[in-house]
Amino acid sequence: MPEMSCQPSEFGELPDGQTVTQYTLRNNLSGMSISIINYGATLTSVKVPGLGGTVHELTLGFDHLNEYLDHDFYFGATIGRVANRIATASYNYKGQDFYLSKNKGYSHHLHGGEKGFDKVIWQSEVSIQSDRANVELSYISSDGEQGYPGTLKVKTIYSLTSANELKVIFEAETDRVTPVDLTNHAYWNLAGAGHGTILDHVLQVFADQYVVTDQDLLPTGQIVEVDGTPFDFRQPHHLGERINDTSIGGYDICYALPTAIDLSRLVAVIKEPVTGRTLEVYTTEPGLQFYTGNSLKSYPISGGLTTQRFGAFCMETQNLPGAVHYPQFPSPFLLPGELYHHETIYRLIW
Ligand code: BGC
Repeated sequence: MPEMSCQPSEFGELPDGQTVTQYTLRNNLSGMSISIINYGATLTSVKVPGLGGTVHELTLGFDHLNEYLDHDFYFGATIGRVANRIATASYNYKGQDFYLSKNKGYSHHLHGGEKGFDKVIWQSEVSIQSDRANVELSYISSDGEQGYPGTLKVKTIYSLTSANELKVIFEAETDRVTPVDLTNHAYWNLAGAGHGTILDHVLQVFADQYVVTDQDLLPTGQIVEVDGTPFDFRQPHHLGERINDTSIGGYDICYALPTAIDLSRLVAVIKEPVTGRTLEVYTTEPGLQFYTGNSLKSYPISGGLTTQRFGAFCMETQNLPGAVHYPQFPSPFLLPGELYHHETIYRLIW
C-alpha cells in the first residue's frame, strides 16, 4: 500500500442536482486521515488512531450534505472573501465606498457575507506525492459577489503529510483591488468530537498582543498587551481557568502575532491532558482568531454524537480583523498582478 492515498466518494446532491464529492486523504503508515468536501471547500473530518484499533474523530462535522446546507456554525469551512467581522458591512478604498452583504438579521458583515465561500461549490483536483496527498479546490468569485469588487480566482489546497500535518494553502488573484482574508473554520476537540467540552484543554499562544473588540465583537482598531488579562496564554493555562473573567464568558479573540512570521514558527499549541493529544499551529498570517465555540449549543454532529457550548475550539489564522478600516493594520487589499498566499499547518501529535 502506498504511504499516502486519497479516496473520493459521493457525499450528496445539492437541490439543483450538482454532486458533492468527499475526498478522504490517508496517511497509511500512521493511520491519520482527513476528509474534505467540495461544498464550501470544507474539512469534514480529521481522524487519528487510538489504542486497540480505535479511531477518534477530532473535528465537528456532519454525516449528510443537507446538514451542511442548514447550519450557522461554519463547521470546517473555508471562509472568504474576508473572514471575521466588517462593521457596517462597508469600507472605503481611496475615496470610494463599497457596500458588502449583511448577514441575515445582522447589521454587519461576518465571514464573507450571507453567501460566502463556505456556501459555494468548488472545483477539485487530487494529487499524490510520496510524502503528501493533496486536494486542490478552486473557485471563481464574480465581480460584485457579496458586494466585493473584482473577479477573484481563489484556491484552497488541503494536504495531509507523512508528518501528520494538515496543511492548508490559500491563494487568490484579482482583476480589481479587493480585500482578501481567507481562513479555515474547523472546530477541534482533542478528546474527540462530541466528547464533552474543551475547557480542560491546556493552551499556549505565543502572542504578546490582541486586537480589541467592542461589546458587539467589532474591532476598535486598538491592539493591546495580553499582560494581566485572561487572554495571556504565553504560559500554558487550562481554557476553563479564566474563561469566566472574559467579558463575554468565552474566548473569541484575535491575537496579533509577532511580526516576520514564517511557516516554521509555532504560534499556538493546545493539549488535551487525558489523552495527551496535541495540536500545533504554524502560520504565515499576522493574526490568530481563537474561539471556544461560545455559540455552540446541544447540536447533533457526525457519528450520532452531540456537541454543546464549548464543545470545540477554532484556530482561525488570518489578517487582523478590521483591517479594511484601520490603516495601522496590515493591508488586506489585493491588487491586480499580486498573489494572495497564506499557509497554515495544523500538526497533530498523539
Ligand atoms: C467568530 C465568532 C462567530 C463564529 C461563528 C468565529 O470565527 O470569531 O464570533 O460567532 O465564528 O461560527
